[in-house]
Amino acid sequence: MRHVTVLLVVLWAGALTVTAHDFGQQITWNREISRIVYDHCASCHREGGTSFSLMTYREAQPYANEIKEAVLERRMPPWGAVKGFGDFRNDQGLTQEQVELVTNWVEGGIMKGNNPNMLPKPPKFEPPVLFHPPAGGIRISGTVTLKQSFTLDGLLPETARSGTQIVAVFPDGGVKPLLWLYEYNEKYTHPFLLRKPLNLPAGTVIRGGRPSATVMLLPPIPRETHSAKGTQ
Ligand code: HEC
Repeated sequence: MRHVTVLLVVLWAGALTVTAHDFGQQITWNREISRIVYDHCASCHREGGTSFSLMTYREAQPYANEIKEAVLERRMPPWGAVKGFGDFRNDQGLTQEQVELVTNWVEGGIMKGNNPNMLPKPPKFEPPVLFHPPAGGIRISGTVTLKQSFTLDGLLPETARSGTQIVAVFPDGGVKPLLWLYEYNEKYTHPFLLRKPLNLPAGTVIRGGRPSATVMLLPPIPRETHSAKGTQ
């Protein structure tokens, strides 16, 4: 009788181990995190960039906890808008899934991974292109009613504050969310370029801007020449 019980316990433990292996896949630098960092952080965080390098495991590992805090609080990358409120073709923010990968990596022991072949090729960096707002933009503060129709291709917050929620209220009463600034840092001023240009008829009210801040409404920008990365 005793022997049977022991055997059952062993089998049960074996089953648990298999389950953990199947579902609890380790997040590693080599496989997941290097890709996120290369795509979303390394344009600034590298040798010769605007901030300390995070290009290698050895460089990133000592910052792991700060990296977790910075992405959870959405301070990094300094994109500065709430996802889902407006839709931008140059969106640099991390998806919720990417934030969770980073968090799980840090909480799961900051593993490097033992297969260096998993590491992607380091990205090539082009010199940053400064964003020059095209002529014909409208600079707004506070609530503004458009006297003429305007094709909106993006917004450039100049002195806007975090928390500002800008919407367009159409003459027929329809409301379109444009931009919700969150952790927007004027140090990294950049345009938010709409995925599709939006026609604003005369009489449209742009609401939500702060009286003490300015935001530039951008007219269509030639796609080839705009900088997706802003004014770093
Ligand atoms: C547009 C440039 C830029 C991008 C992109 C960027 N950073 Fe930063 N980051 C900076 C600068 C500059 C600093 C220095 C602190 C400061 O002055 O804001 C910084 C600081 C940090 C810090 C330390 C202090 C803090 O503010 O928490 C961490 C950690 C960090 N970045 C992680 C990241 C990660 C992770 C990513 C990508 C997911 C990223 N950064 C993307 C520019 C950038």
